[in-house]
Amino acid sequence: MTTPKTFHVKSFGCQMNVYDGERMAELMAAQGLSATDDADAADLVVLNTCHIREKATEKVYSDIGRLRKDGRKPMIAVAGCVAQAEGEEIVRRAKVDVVVGPQAYHNLPKLVADAAAGRAALDTDMPAASKFGALPGRRKSGPTAFLTVQEGCDKFCTYCVVPYTRGAEVSRPFDAIVAEAKALVDAGAREITLLGQNVNAWDDAEGRGLHGLIHALDRIEGLARIRYTTSHPNDMREGLIRAHAEVAKLMPYLHLPVQAGSDRILKAMNRSHTRDSYLRILDRVRAARPDIALSGDFIVGFPGESDADFEDTMSLVAAVGYAQCFSFKYSARPGTPAAEMDGFVPAEVMDERLQRLQAALNASQLAFNEATMGKPCQVLLERPGRKPGQKVGKSPWLQSVHLETDAAIGDLVTVEIVQAGPNSLGGVERVQAAA
Ligand code: SAH
Ligand code: SF4
Ligand code: F3S
Repeated sequence: MTTPKTFHVKSFGCQMNVYDGERMAELMAAQGLSATDDADAADLVVLNTCHIREKATEKVYSDIGRLRKDGRKPMIAVAGCVAQAEGEEIVRRAKVDVVVGPQAYHNLPKLVADAAAGRAALDTDMPAASKFGALPGRRKSGPTAFLTVQEGCDKFCTYCVVPYTRGAEVSRPFDAIVAEAKALVDAGAREITLLGQNVNAWDDAEGRGLHGLIHALDRIEGLARIRYTTSHPNDMREGLIRAHAEVAKLMPYLHLPVQAGSDRILKAMNRSHTRDSYLRILDRVRAARPDIALSGDFIVGFPGESDADFEDTMSLVAAVGYAQCFSFKYSARPGTPAAEMDGFVPAEVMDERLQRLQAALNASQLAFNEATMGKPCQVLLERPGRKPGQKVGKSPWLQSVHLETDAAIGDLVTVEIVQAGPNSLGGVERVQAAA
């Protein structure tokens, strides 16, 4: 196989994979390869994969097949969580050239060179030394940027593969994060989203906690907005809740997955919070920041979930009034404790529950969107819209807002919301805020 000159990175799954995909692209560009948007024309295709549900994993194999249609033979590197979980199995099953796990991707250039020289190229180590130090600095950024501050998970929810694919909880050092945030702002970022599988578990030896980090980012001139995701209920410390009242740059949005509304199911999931303790946290967050948009994740059809358990989920949704949620059918994952549990929920029952849940969540989202009508708010412009003169950005509550404006991408504009649909809002520019 010849040494590739062009590459394409395709990321699936969560935002941490998006971040990793950007870092791998920067790494390959620093090696002199050029990026292409067209996967079918690239010499090297990096599939940055997700293992969270069976469908996500299967997608990798269909993608590999598609890349090889018409006899094309690009170098294929499988990265991400499927690489970590399946390792050599992928090479056996799909004859890919490189397999690299989420904690080893700083070695991608070496692995690509090995593959080009016909050597085996597999690295799924989880070294203690952080990969971040081995990555090039941040030089390019759009108005919004992701910044991974914490990786891995020690929670071991019984359905979830993340503790196995991403390893133990590790926090990046404070100074390295602040330096990367500054570099991103210098490169054009106006909004930074701090990322982690359990981002609110971030901490350091001084015990500064995620809120300490948020206060430090608050002091970066030119940075207008701070967000963070995903949080675990048990790591929702008082300082972080207070930051929502104290830090104007911290946007009023909280993604706090609950997964289910029944204590029996929460226990079987090993979530270590109850329905009540979760609701009490939300009360405190709302007391600190009354307009906060709440978001969550749900799983329906966990083993043993009865009709009554599911009704508990429905009543929790009604009680919270979410702004936006993600919901999934339970997918049994090899190696997880839940995969061995009794009480398999039939597919048609799962389908029906998911439909009912999503109808309720959509109604809740529409109600939240409608409640922003008439309110002036700031919108960070992220991209051109479909119509001439139109641009699209995000409200503080993470809703997409379409409006006509002459302001530039990356500007913050003051907007009145005049139209509210289920998935986006329409706005009219009022006074243009200084950018
Ligand atoms: N660290 C985050 C997100 C983990 S994965 C958290 O703890 O919330 C994102 C979501 O995928 C989870 O919140 C959960 O709702 C869903 N998920 C995880 N494993 C799943 C499985 N086996 N089947 C279905 N959904 C799953
Ligand atoms: Fe998975 Fe639970 Fe960890 Fe989230 S907290 S990544 S759902 S094990
Ligand atoms: Fe998927 Fe791995 Fe993220 S399994 S959701 S890409 S941590």
